[in-house]
Formats: sequence, structure tokens, C-alpha cells
Amino acid sequence: MKPLHKILINNDTSFNPVWIMRQAGRYLPEFREIRKKNPDFINLCLNHHLSTEITLQPLKRFDLDAAIIFSDILMLPYGLGQKVKFEKNFGPKLGELNLNEIAKIDEIDFVEKIHRVYKAIEKVSTDPILKNKNTIGFVGAPWTLLVYMINQQSPKKNLKKDFFKDEFLINRILLIIEKFLKIHIKNQIDNGANVIQIFDSWAGLLDEKDLPNYVYSPTLNLVNYVKSLNVPVICFPREIKNYKEFCDIIKPDAVSIDYNVDPKKILRDIKIPIQGGLDPKILLTDKETLKKEASKYLNIFKDHPYIFNLGHGVLPETDPNMFDYLVKTVKNY
Ligand code: CP3
Repeated sequence: MKPLHKILINNDTSFNPVWIMRQAGRYLPEFREIRKKNPDFINLCLNHHLSTEITLQPLKRFDLDAAIIFSDILMLPYGLGQKVKFEKNFGPKLGELNLNEIAKIDEIDFVEKIHRVYKAIEKVSTDPILKNKNTIGFVGAPWTLLVYMINQQSPKKNLKKDFFKDEFLINRILLIIEKFLKIHIKNQIDNGANVIQIFDSWAGLLDEKDLPNYVYSPTLNLVNYVKSLNVPVICFPREIKNYKEFCDIIKPDAVSIDYNVDPKKILRDIKIPIQGGLDPKILLTDKETLKKEASKYLNIFKDHPYIFNLGHGVLPETDPNMFDYLVKTVKNY
């Protein structure tokens, strides 16, 4: 059985597998080298030779237990025909959202636009380096994708006041997102993904009263869909105020926690396997602090099924030696 499956399916507490969000990325010089020659991020994600190579870069350096495919949650709006660009020092910029255009897209158009993501998953999952490791596929949660598609860029701290003004549009788009997320998940699994993670990066922006409509209901549909395909699913409802309520309703195979979550409190509140938590900024300190802070999580979760990870993506300014030290700390625990 593969390492993440021991935790997610068997609820094993005897060891802690490790992978890191954004483990393939700008903190690695070999990634920056490829990125420099490929200024168009979407095209890079759609180049299955390079995206496979990038996905495997961290596994060649570090003793990680899983590969996460080098792609982006915004490949979904891209596949639906919305313009998506990534600008340096700004982040994603999306084009105008046109409901009539998007409503015309069918499964064949969508898969044709992004099928090279699936080709990369196939190449990664069959690489000998992945023999005893998991291949993680992922999607953005419907709510987080809705935020990007309507807002056309990352929201700052709050949603614009008029975000919900066109309720008809929002509800139509949500249904379209959900339909194509299922297609996207199915294709990732058919090509070798054996764990799915759902990133709800903007779950924390919503008032409690809006969670059932925009987070709980669409996420539950997706989680049940992944389960029906016999693949375990990890949810990351970043900065949601009530992780316990989320887990009680959604029942994912594991929940990934952000760095504001009190690990002792969540241990008391939640029975399912837990992932992550450590603040990525700790990797910018020194080895002693890093060991102390990583051990804190390992100690607290020593009798709970726990996958080691961070509370958000690894920062671009991280020293790869510190990353290596972190992985070794977990492995030697
Ligand atoms: O290693 C991995 O974790 C796999 C690859 C991955 C990327 N994006 C590659 C990427 C994953 C899992 C994502 C998910 C993603 N993308 C999320 C959810 C997680 C989160 O961060 O909350 C979100 C919100 C996005 C959208 C997105 N993509 C933003 C906001 C940005 C710009 C911010 C930034 O860090 O530059 C991206 C770009 C992006 N996605 C990069 C990478 C490696 C950086 C691109 C570059 O090289 O310039």
C-alpha cells in the first residue's frame, strides 16, 4: 500500500508520510531555470514533457512520499474558455466571464484544451521514482474557482461589495464549475492520480451563513463523487472558522489545516486524519527553530493519523537546504 493510503485508508498512526504544497516551484533553481525560458505559465502547464520534469524535480532531491502534479487550479476556467494569464509580481489575471460562451462548452472541448495535464499525470504516475509513492491530483473547490472567475484576480482580504449581486449568474456558474470539476477529477484519476486534494483557498472569506450554499453543498457533491471512484480525498478549506463543522458535514478522508489552526484543539475536535499546519515562514528561520516547530506538530499528532505538510504553499524565498532538513526531520522522527 502506498504511504498516503496507509494514513487515508487504514488510519495508520505508526508513521508520518510527507509532501509539501508547492513542492515543485520557484524555491528550486532548476524550476526557475525552466520558468525563465517559458514565460507563459499556462503553456508551461500544458507542456507535458516540462510539467512532468518539474513535477519530478523535488522527488529527485528530497525523500518525499508523493508527487503533486505541476498544474494550477485555474486550468479549469482556462478549459472553459475564460482567458487566464499569470503576471509577474501580480498573480493570476482572468478575462471577462461570459456565461453564454461558457454554457456552450462541452466535455470534448474542455478535455481537448487541457488534456496534456492528464498526459503529464500518466507520465508521472508511471515513472519508476513513483513506485512506492502517491500521485496527487487536485482541483480548486467550486467556491474558490467562482471567486477567481467573477473577481478576475486574487481577492485581497474581502470580496467586493457587489460580488453576490447577480445571483442567477453565480448559481449557473457554480453548477457549470461542479460539472467540469467532476470531469477534471475523473480524467486525473483515469490517468494515474491516486489521491485527490481539493483546495478551497478562499473558504475563509465567507460569512457563516453563506457556507452551506457556496462551500458545504458543492464540496460535499465533489467529495462524494471522488469517493465513488474509490480514491481518497483531502480537503483544504483554508482559514475556514469552523474546521470541525466542515469535517462533520463533508467527511473527507483527511483535512489539511492552515497555520492559524491550533493543532491541540483540532486534535480534540476531529477524528479523521489530519494533514499540514506548519507555517511556511518557519522555513525562513534556522534549523534549530525548524526542528523544534516541526517536532511540535509531530508530537501533538503522534497518536493520530497525520500526513506532514505545511499550512500553505512553500515560499519562493525558501532555501532548498532548509526544505531538505525539514523532510529529514520528519523522516527521522
Ligand atoms: O507543487 C504544487 O503544489 C503543485 C502545483 C500547484 C500550483 N498551483 C502551481 C503554481 C498547485 C497545487 C496550485 C494550486 C493553486 N493555484 C491554488 C490553491 C493553493 C493556494 O495557493 O491557496 C491557488 C489559489 C492557485 C492560483 C494561483 N496560481 C495563484 C494565486 C498564483 C500566483 C501566486 C504565486 O505564488 O505566484 C499561481 C501561480 C502558480 N501556481 C505558481 C506555481 C508554481 C507560481 C508561478 C510562477 O512560477 O510564477
